[in-house]
Amino acid sequence: MRRKLIAGNWKMNMTPSQAKALIEEVKPLVAGKDNCDILFCVPFVDIFAAQEAAKGSNIKIGAENVHFAEKGAYTGEISASMLTECGVEYVIIGHSERRQYFGETDETVNLRTKAALAAGMKVILCLGEVKDQRLSGITDEVVAMQTKLDLKDVTEEQLKNVIIAYEPVWAIGTGLTATPEQADETCGVIRNTIKALYGEKAADEIIIQYGGSMNAQNAKELLAKENVDGGLIGGASLKAKDFSIIVDCAQ
Ligand code: PGA
Repeated sequence: MRRKLIAGNWKMNMTPSQAKALIEEVKPLVAGKDNCDILFCVPFVDIFAAQEAAKGSNIKIGAENVHFAEKGAYTGEISASMLTECGVEYVIIGHSERRQYFGETDETVNLRTKAALAAGMKVILCLGEVKDQRLSGITDEVVAMQTKLDLKDVTEEQLKNVIIAYEPVWAIGTGLTATPEQADETCGVIRNTIKALYGEKAADEIIIQYGGSMNAQNAKELLAKENVDGGLIGGASLKAKDFSIIVDCAQ
């Protein structure tokens, strides 16, 4: 049995005081719901406020990106050691918004992934097809290729710290959701790719989330699917009640 991971991705939302208020609102709503892991990935400047607010609860705080270099002339970037020293264990890498607006490629996603894993972090690796690729019937090939490229030179041991978030780009922030069947099928394609690369045990154990307009209404059906081990949630993670209902669906 894989343990589900319900993770919020706040994107560029919430000031530190708003972060504190939201976490404090979520805390009692998810208290004692220990059948899944609960995480908020937050803007760098919110990390301390969110950690402080989450203290003593079952909510973990992660980051939304990390650079691949140890340090140096990369203005505006944050290194893995900066995050780990702040007590951050989880980091999102390769989100489609990073790929779309900030020039991330499978190559840089792979470099960031390896740097985070080398620092002992857990990586939520995001991948997924764009609308034209789904309509052209090449979704399976696209996600298999991304899985291979993004995990290049990641060892079987390191893979234990990798979570994959399958996020069809056409479903992110659009209100369009993959059907539970589509989510299950494509998460299954990713799992099979992991099996081909790392073997059956690794494929059985890896957590594969679905992301893309998951909300309080559709979470139950999506999370009920065999290959869907949780959710990466954008919009609905900014509302305490909605997020806690999704956590309930994972119990
Ligand atoms: P959404 O975002 O839930 O707002 O569609 C999901 C994501 O981008 O991770």
